[in-house]
Amino acid sequence: MTNADIRIFKDNNELSLAASLLWVESAREAINARGRFLVVLSGGNTPSGLYQLLAEEPYRSQIDWKKTSVFWGDERCVSPTDEASNYRQAMDILLRHVPILKENVHRIKGELIPVDAVNDYAQLMEGFSDPGLTWPRFDLVLLGMGADGHTASLFPNSDETESSPVLAVSAHYQGRPAQRVTLSPHIFNSARTIIFLVTGEDKADVLKSVLNESHMPKRYPAQRIQPKDGKIIWLLDEAAGSKIT
Ligand code: 6PG
Repeated sequence: MTNADIRIFKDNNELSLAASLLWVESAREAINARGRFLVVLSGGNTPSGLYQLLAEEPYRSQIDWKKTSVFWGDERCVSPTDEASNYRQAMDILLRHVPILKENVHRIKGELIPVDAVNDYAQLMEGFSDPGLTWPRFDLVLLGMGADGHTASLFPNSDETESSPVLAVSAHYQGRPAQRVTLSPHIFNSARTIIFLVTGEDKADVLKSVLNESHMPKRYPAQRIQPKDGKIIWLLDEAAGSKIT
């Protein structure tokens, strides 16, 4: 990825600060232009620092939460009260602590059988769709990346030809729940802004491949994220970014 916007920070704290500022800016722009802010959250450990900052001052009151709607890029197929639920993580760290409206929190229903959860979320996406699409153009999408190059729940060797905007997936990663529901690149790539949050030494090699090497999206699903006319920003800590040239 030549000319990628890559920003490297000392650690997750510094990275989270930068991500908070980008969130505030993106929310303001969206609300000024369209009266609402549609944001897609990521699971994984990395965004916890960001979620915590957004729940606190000064960021909390810099965001118009009543005009903010949150969605998820992927969910593990567990109940919303399970510790492994991406919804629960964001609720506990962020959403419970800010004046967001209940009806603007749109979780993926991980407690359903995957095919039903997919249909339910695809219908929800359609309800928010922009002209010519069956999903919305999100204002901001947060994504993480695994040490195997996966992002959201798009895993290495998964089918790249899918036409559906929402997918059921089964994949093993670090003992986390294997059944997942994920948005597809169709949805991610129509977003206005995508921010990758990537930390940790274990991701350095794969990140080098994703950013510096030839296009191998089957091997490195993170390479499938290429916004059509939006922007993509990579926020890395020094450990994850240590091998990038
Ligand atoms: C999930 C995620 C997943 C995550 C990466 C990175 O539900 O597991 O959405 O794609 O972002 O696995 O996770 P870490 O931030 O924990 O490294």
